[in-house]
Amino acid sequence: MAQSSDQIKAAITAVGGYVPEDRLTNQDLEKMVDTNDEWIKSRTGIEARRILKDSTKATSYLAIKACENLLKKTQLDPKTIDLVIVATITPDLHVSATAPYVATQIGATNAFAFDVQAACSGFLYALSIAAGKIESGRYKKILVIGADKMSSIVDYTDRSTCIIFGDGGGVALMEPSTNNFGWEDEYFRSSGEGRNYLNMKAGGSLCPTTSQTLANRWHYLYQDGKSVFKYAVSEMAHAGSEIMKRNGLKNQDIKYLVPHQANKRIIEATAKRMNLEQDKVLMNIKDYGNTTAATIPLLFNDFEADLKKGDKLVLAAFGGGFTWGAALITWAYN
Ligand SMILES: CC(C)(COP(=O)(O)OP(=O)(O)OC[C@H]1O[C@@H](n2cnc3c(N)ncnc32)[C@H](O)[C@@H]1OP(=O)(O)O)[C@@H](O)C(=O)NCCC(=O)NCCS
Repeated sequence: MAQSSDQIKAAITAVGGYVPEDRLTNQDLEKMVDTNDEWIKSRTGIEARRILKDSTKATSYLAIKACENLLKKTQLDPKTIDLVIVATITPDLHVSATAPYVATQIGATNAFAFDVQAACSGFLYALSIAAGKIESGRYKKILVIGADKMSSIVDYTDRSTCIIFGDGGGVALMEPSTNNFGWEDEYFRSSGEGRNYLNMKAGGSLCPTTSQTLANRWHYLYQDGKSVFKYAVSEMAHAGSEIMKRNGLKNQDIKYLVPHQANKRIIEATAKRMNLEQDKVLMNIKDYGNTTAATIPLLFNDFEADLKKGDKLVLAAFGGGFTWGAALITWAYN
């Protein structure tokens, strides 16, 4: 809900990002599955993805590199960080959260740390948790990380999914606002129906690993792309429009829409339904594909120089679960 002015406001005060060097292009995929560059570009807007090829490195590596980027830019002492949240669906291990490992590796030895699993909405949900913690007055510095090594769960024989996903990590630092810019409002929802359309069938408590689940390839990501597409457009646009409406904002008041990078057509259709011109939409899907929890912080990192103090941004995401929502922020620094 919108806040009164005497409350502590949470603001993003720095960002960082990391994508691996190795590029998996549409031309590479043409050699792996029955697809072609033209189809992928026209149906998704994707030309390449980054892949963490080193099999000894996991999602924590992407998260740590993103944090190191932020720490280097800000000269922040990691010992002053109170909390580290990692949003991911590809944790290093299913038991033992990734966030404590990341916190230790970056020297955030005074922080507590935990993971959030909300798929492509994970970073936005985690930002909301962090905003609440800052607003409570109990915490001053929180690292919110979105990172996914999607290549670890993508089936590179399935042309309907392998063209979409890439690896990456991004991070935002949240602190109490010093200029009254920051986290303004949020609108989040979820629907358990979504797990029929986007899931990894085995390896959880519902369907533990057996030789049969391996033979069925149930440890890879499955999606009914058409259904996910429809829900994503309608719910992201609805959440984004709601947040504009209840804050009395017209399209000229919004500097940028910062949408989860699922598919260029999903992003464009969402913006259209929100009556936002396409030049207000931040996009980097062409180079990275869908990096799940990392898309929004990677946008912040790539477009950091274009974001100015006071800019009103609508963040919007949709992901597995289903999970979705939108947030309104005023950018707090130049
Ligand atoms: C996956 C997605 C790109 C498919 O695009 P689409 O326009 O819905 O395409 P369809 O699934 O209807 O397939 C159309 C045709 O292309 C074919 N096709 C699917 N993948 C293909 C590929 N990589 N290359 C060539 N053809 C392909 C299909 O087999 C189908 O052929 P048919 O008509 O002969 O049956 C799209 O549905 C999507 O992006 N969904 C959302 C995915 C997403 O973002 N998930 C993450 C969670 S946010």
